[in-house]
Amino acid sequence: MTTPLLIAQISDLHIKRPGEKAYGVVDTAAALDRCIAHLNGMRPQPGHVVISGDLVDGGKAEEYAHLRRLLAPLKAPFSLIPGNHDARETMRAAFPDQPYAQSSGSMHMRVAVGDLDLILLDSSVPGKPHGFLDAEALLWLDKILASENKRPALLFLHHPPFVTGIGHMDRQNLQNAGDMAAVIKRHPRVRIVAAGHVHRAVLTRFAGIPATICPAPNHAVVLDLDGSLVPSFAVEPPAFHLHAWFGERDELVTHCVPIGNFIGPHPFFGAGGNLL
Ligand SMILES: [Fe+2]
Repeated sequence: MTTPLLIAQISDLHIKRPGEKAYGVVDTAAALDRCIAHLNGMRPQPGHVVISGDLVDGGKAEEYAHLRRLLAPLKAPFSLIPGNHDARETMRAAFPDQPYAQSSGSMHMRVAVGDLDLILLDSSVPGKPHGFLDAEALLWLDKILASENKRPALLFLHHPPFVTGIGHMDRQNLQNAGDMAAVIKRHPRVRIVAAGHVHRAVLTRFAGIPATICPAPNHAVVLDLDGSLVPSFAVEPPAFHLHAWFGERDELVTHCVPIGNFIGPHPFFGAGGNLL
């Protein structure tokens, strides 16, 4: 079997100005540093890294400048889409070298990596926490998916188009998920819908295909499934998603990769082939 094409997804970086912590507690810059060190140490290297929104915490130019400096050591090429914490035009000014489909407004893009199309869909609504795809966005998605019918596509957006059971986050979902599902169902080349926003690893099915939420390198939204808490975060083990594409088999496998230094690797077997 040949080595898969690896698309790493990191999400919800929430970078602040240098020296500031998110909510006064979480050093999101240090968390991103650890994430990038982990990505840079991977063998094989990811062919591409997708950053699925909430790049910075407050949409400020200084935050994007800080993010740009933090991303500089990343060896793999990367692409990014905004989340509800981002500010489109400030983000576009900080990252003018990305292949945006439009020169203003929504920041959708298509990135070809090997035999895969990465479709990055901007689900943000300026000034609002929830996601929505207006008629223009849905038309762009339909057209970009129709522009090819053979190349498999991975679809990334910030806002999950499905519920997680965490009520205060579900209220900020993609509000017209049914409209997006209708487009996806017309284009069987989409292999996965990969979102962010919830800072947790989540797996389900949407529009007949696998759908995921990518965990974050910093803090997690607390897994509160009965609404007993006020909206809360906790610092849980950081992680990212690694989408492994086995092109010759037409199979996509998503790994949840913990970030950090752990003991190992240790061999299972001794020199004689005995299980240790
Ligand atoms: Fe978000």
